[in-house]
Amino acid sequence: MTQTDFYETHLQHLTQALVVLPDKPEETPETTLAALWFAAAGRPLSVEAASQAPRPDLDGAARAALDGLIARRLSGVPLAHITGRQRFMGLELLAGPDALVPRKETELLGRTALEKLKAMADARGSVTAIDVCTGSGNLALALNQHEPRARVFAADLSVEAVALARRNAAHLGAGDHVTFFDGDLFGAFPEALLGQADLVVCNPPYISSAKVDAMAAEIAGHEPRLAFDGGGFGLGIVSRLIKEAPLFLKPGSWLCFEIGLGQGKFLKGSLAKAGAYAVIEAFEDAEGQIRVLAAQTP
Ligand SMILES: C[S@@+](CC[C@H](N)C(=O)[O-])C[C@H]1O[C@@H](n2cnc3c(N)ncnc32)[C@H](O)[C@@H]1O
Repeated sequence: MTQTDFYETHLQHLTQALVVLPDKPEETPETTLAALWFAAAGRPLSVEAASQAPRPDLDGAARAALDGLIARRLSGVPLAHITGRQRFMGLELLAGPDALVPRKETELLGRTALEKLKAMADARGSVTAIDVCTGSGNLALALNQHEPRARVFAADLSVEAVALARRNAAHLGAGDHVTFFDGDLFGAFPEALLGQADLVVCNPPYISSAKVDAMAAEIAGHEPRLAFDGGGFGLGIVSRLIKEAPLFLKPGSWLCFEIGLGQGKFLKGSLAKAGAYAVIEAFEDAEGQIRVLAAQTP
């Protein structure tokens, strides 16, 4: 079979059989095939990178490997776990079962936090950012790579996630501008950071335990529960974040965090009630849903 016929046959198969979850809008039959094609060729790339690169020819062994990879994907294994790659804010990151696969929707938080950090770096020179619940290190590394004046400290309760974050830092050559710790929320960071941060960023677990139980098998069966489960109402970690972040922020500095669908009004109220923030801003996604909150210390 020619390369073109081989490609068209597999694209048709994926078009008929692939089910893509709404939180992975970048994965279509075409982009999925592109990513699996490069993985079969021994050149793993994210869906975005694979879709933009010219397809290499596959020899017999690579064609057999592609059939196996397509079968794994159709059995419900997340694409990023098969390729070991995921793009986030333009960065080609390593991905796997050790931490949440960074989602496109989290780029709203990344862009919001980066804008605040850049403005503070312009005003203050060098800046310090803290990324709580860092997972694969996507937000910490995006802030560092897009704002080189930032020194970034990041942590996660999961030692497996922190190990992946460190591999990502090495993969991107972030050097010693990003430091990772493991531990519970702000307890992971050295006391020397108290009152030193220009920005705290966080994509916390914010889904209620009951909803986590009902999540799609592709998520629940493959990604760490710790990444999603925010307790009874999904607000356990977020409430602690709102209370504890001011201890680490300088005056006039920002807390930026992602929230779940429908949590905006309540959490804006929580920020106001905390009495530690002078300005509160809400950011909406393309559907008009508040998905990011930012709050500035007085
Ligand atoms: C929604 S994921 C976000 C991961 C990554 N920042 C991202 O945007 O893809 C939440 C992360 O919080 C971590 N986590 C859960 N409870 C925590 C806690 N008490 N302290 C620190 N990290 C925690 C999980 O291990 C997970 O990596």
